[in-house]
Amino acid sequence: MRTPKTQGLSLKALCELCRKKQPTQNRCIVNFNKICVIGLGYIGLPTASTFAAQGVDVLGVDVNSSIIETLNQGEIHIHEPGLRDAVTKAVQSEKFKAALKPQEADAFIIAVPTPFHEDKYGEYNGRTYKLADMTAVIAATESILPVLRKGNLVVLESTSPPRTTIELVAPILERSGLKAGTDFFLCYSPERVLPGQIMRELIENARVIGGVTPESAQAGADLYSIFVKGQIIKTDSSTAEMVKLMENTYRDVNIAIANEFSRLADKFGVDVWEAVSIANLHPRVKILSPGPGVGGHCISVDPWFFVETAPELTPLIYQSRQVNDAQPNFVVDIVQRALGSLKGKTIAALGLAYKPDVDDLRESPAGEVAHLLQKQGARVHAGSRSSRMQTCPVFPSPLLLKMPSATQTRFCCWSNIRSLPASSPRRLPKRPKPESPLMPSTAGKKPNGRLPVLRSSGSARGSNRVS
Ligand SMILES: NC(=O)c1ccc[n+]([C@@H]2O[C@H](COP(=O)([O-])OP(=O)(O)OC[C@H]3O[C@@H](n4cnc5c(N)ncnc54)[C@H](O)[C@@H]3O)[C@@H](O)[C@H]2O)c1
Repeated sequence: MRTPKTQGLSLKALCELCRKKQPTQNRCIVNFNKICVIGLGYIGLPTASTFAAQGVDVLGVDVNSSIIETLNQGEIHIHEPGLRDAVTKAVQSEKFKAALKPQEADAFIIAVPTPFHEDKYGEYNGRTYKLADMTAVIAATESILPVLRKGNLVVLESTSPPRTTIELVAPILERSGLKAGTDFFLCYSPERVLPGQIMRELIENARVIGGVTPESAQAGADLYSIFVKGQIIKTDSSTAEMVKLMENTYRDVNIAIANEFSRLADKFGVDVWEAVSIANLHPRVKILSPGPGVGGHCISVDPWFFVETAPELTPLIYQSRQVNDAQPNFVVDIVQRALGSLKGKTIAALGLAYKPDVDDLRESPAGEVAHLLQKQGARVHAGSRSSRMQTCPVFPSPLLLKMPSATQTRFCCWSNIRSLPASSPRRLPKRPKPESPLMPSTAGKKPNGRLPVLRSSGSARGSNRVS
């Protein structure tokens, strides 16, 4: 907070004054006694409770009143290891409170969803692409306006299309009469944590802070250095936005080539797992694991933000999205090959989330596989470990959300459940391997004793580590 002595100074003058006082530390003058975290989901809530654990007064804000009620009772509404403990402690110590609206604070962090529109598309040269839905970012930014004060820091954490911080967030905040970078600090800082390990990675991961001015980047670095032990890298806001999208797009493109290899291997009667593990013995090759597609709200969404903002420059990114989105059809094709017509068949689908051990169904290819099976007349039993799945509106036709008995089980089409009942079939059918006059067929050989089920491409196993 500013002192009466520094009240009239611009942010730049304030930072210079601060540097004169603390020449070796290069620190800004903002004291982060109170912060406001807007959006209390998988990112906002861990962030809020981690700040609270460091003694900062945190107001968590969400538009969902049942989340506010739950959190103020010291309970949580999502599953993330270590989160319940952190929130309970934060509430008991009175360092964390949840509310429906922001209040005056030293810093504001925006961590609201940035999905794509379900019913709006862009078009370029006959290619249809998805568009980012920035409604929540706009609403969250607008909610800060009445309480924004000179000397505050605002950080956007939501994954966003390039230039969102300067072209969308800054103009909204400047409706207050204050100027971004001059009267208040403004940053973009992407979140790069791995679901399932968020509480640890929040602290240990390197963090990128992109400021609209160098002083803003410094203020952001000061804020996160309250708990971040990893490296803090200061840059400009557009670079930070691009870094996040590049990371996830790189993953998507690499998973797409693995998925395409799986279709080729199927065509040629080759075991894709064996082929990948042999190819990866090459010192400069690291093929990821193929799977039923790409899920989650990051990797299957973020590449579209590049396509949307530069469709003329992104044919490879676009094509990779198409390949990964079509992979559920390949899975259903394999199931059909095994069972013939799916009409009236009972099919067990083991694991619905987009990767193991999370309760997040967003964009899960498992859901798409289930839809496609249902469309063909199959009765899908979906086995999942999370009760959240049972109320999730992702599935238009109801799935039978309990594990079927072994006798009902006809087929396992993908799994994040690692051990199947002994009586369940364990093998996906292969196309007959084209006969080779030179080699005996190896079709059906199990590589490394692994189950040849199609695993989620968002798997934390092996090298497909994603956030
Ligand atoms: N979850 C991850 O692993 C992860 C990783 C990296 C980046 N991200 C990015 O972080 C952002 C947040 O993701 P998330 O997974 O935490 O989302 P989430 O859906 O779990 O949580 C978002 C919360 O924001 C609330 N909200 C929506 N509009 C609001 C508003 N106007 N004001 C206040 N609250 C509002 C929602 O009610 C919800 O509780 C997204 O941009 C996402 O892409 C997420």
